[in-house]
Amino acid sequence: MEEKIIQFLKKNDGHLSGEEISRQLKISRAGIWKHIQELRREGYEIAAVPHLGYRLVSSPDKLMPRELRHGLGTRSIGREIFYYDTVPSTMDTAFRLGMEGAKEGSVVCAEGQTRGKGRLGRNWVSPKGKGIYASMILRPSLLPSDAARLTLLAAVAVCEALRKVAGIDIKIKWPNDLLVRDRKLAGILTELSAETDRVRFVVIGIGVNVNTPLSLLPSRATSLKAELGRSASRVECLQEILRCLEKRYDQLNEEGFSTVIRQWKEFSSTLGQRIRIADRLGEVEGEAVDLDQDGGLLIRGDTGIIVKRMSGDVVPVV
Ligand code: BTN
Repeated sequence: MEEKIIQFLKKNDGHLSGEEISRQLKISRAGIWKHIQELRREGYEIAAVPHLGYRLVSSPDKLMPRELRHGLGTRSIGREIFYYDTVPSTMDTAFRLGMEGAKEGSVVCAEGQTRGKGRLGRNWVSPKGKGIYASMILRPSLLPSDAARLTLLAAVAVCEALRKVAGIDIKIKWPNDLLVRDRKLAGILTELSAETDRVRFVVIGIGVNVNTPLSLLPSRATSLKAELGRSASRVECLQEILRCLEKRYDQLNEEGFSTVIRQWKEFSSTLGQRIRIADRLGEVEGEAVDLDQDGGLLIRGDTGIIVKRMSGDVVPVV
């Protein structure tokens, strides 16, 4: 019922009388008052003026389904939202829901994480109410060996979404770090459930430092708030991320991967740079010359030989 009352108040930017709400939603005036109190406890600012009625003054910037769904306009991604106050990691929750059969496009989001996971076994700083911590469940018809492509697709989608909402120049550092002025703003983590020749589902985890204080972040990280000099709306950012993800995912299914690769290259801060990268195959230094069709990074070493890397941390060499 709270959801209905909020939708009702959002549709109407003036005052709505208790009598009108009560008639349309078929509940008593006392019932409305109880729900209004509950909504206020959730962070909605609702003015009540005698003889005029109720007016929604502001909504909380929480990643609640009713806020995310309002004006979202996607077909599949975010139609089902699982919302939590605090979880250890939305990756683990989404993986469990995926095993239990959650639909393609389901989104798991939380206000905070106590054991947020980053790439390469690192942790992801996830203070409550400050950043976006969300994981999406996709069920693509891809071979397990092609699933890495979805990470690049997500990087492109998050990059274009945040560029649009914040209007700042965001770049992608291979494979999927989003940087502003060489500082990390957001990251993507992909986990896979697969059989030998079939992907069961993929969980794409997205973390964005929206209003996270710099004092809590690692030294070479930033937040939208720090870049913009004002707080940004987490709801608006996540809505745009979901829209861009759906657009890119549809494109992948209709046209294949080449458009995503092209866009990734346009956003890349890595290509053309002299870099060093270390993984279990050892260390390579050279020029990052291209992105392979499977998402691998092609590096031309000083002997002219081109090698490919599928994982690791890129360090620019100056
Ligand atoms: C990286 O290291 O760049 C990847 C960071 C991914 C963080 C997100 S936050 C939501 C989801 N839940 C997690 O525990 N990690 C991902």
